[in-house]
Amino acid sequence: MVELNKIKKSVAWAALKYILPGTIVGVGTGSTVSYFIEALSTIKHLINGVVSSSLYSTNILKKYGIPIYDLNQVNYLPTYIDGADEINADMHMIKGGGAALTQEKIISSVSETFVCIIDESKKVEILGAFPLPIEVIPMACSYVSNELIKLGGIPKYRKNVITDNGNIIIDIHNFKIRDPVAMENRINALAGVVTVGLFTSRTADVVLVGTKFGIDTIKNNH
Ligand code: 5RP
Repeated sequence: MVELNKIKKSVAWAALKYILPGTIVGVGTGSTVSYFIEALSTIKHLINGVVSSSLYSTNILKKYGIPIYDLNQVNYLPTYIDGADEINADMHMIKGGGAALTQEKIISSVSETFVCIIDESKKVEILGAFPLPIEVIPMACSYVSNELIKLGGIPKYRKNVITDNGNIIIDIHNFKIRDPVAMENRINALAGVVTVGLFTSRTADVVLVGTKFGIDTIKNNH
């Protein structure tokens, strides 16, 4: 665990080199991103501020005195830094372990370059061992769950979690996702689904992978 945290920290600090001075930075959510915020605070005088993907990150950003902007105030977002729960060779990701998937998807879509910071345990061949998070409007919980069963998954309501947007999270367990592009579209199309935590339309542009031996950089040549 200590070792894993060290790897998360070093990969988070490595993301600093993607930050352009004088710009606003998109900030994701999670334990790796928390290390990134700590790193970002050391160069806060060089940036204009950030856009935050969650209340959780906002609270840490405030602690470090980093100016936070509303996304609607921002015309240009060159860089978005965030983690992932799983990523495959096509740079498709599962995100939302921290329940912040909707704002993460919005901010990453606005950004020019998505830099994904992970430890190597997040790299997978087939997505789905990590339960796939879906943000759902509360009144659609039963309907969406029944539809997800038809798709072959086991939906579980995430207890005691209300998203920053006032919705619930359903996680799909036992779900091997062989066609992530089709599955993102299919789940997004269900009435009551706000966002599915599959990121195939907005993939990562650069993935920094922390390992015991250092950091690997993978670039997406799309
Ligand atoms: C939050 C996310 C995170 O990026 C994901 O859960 C990875 O988190 P961590 O860095 O703690 O492993 O999608 O909604």
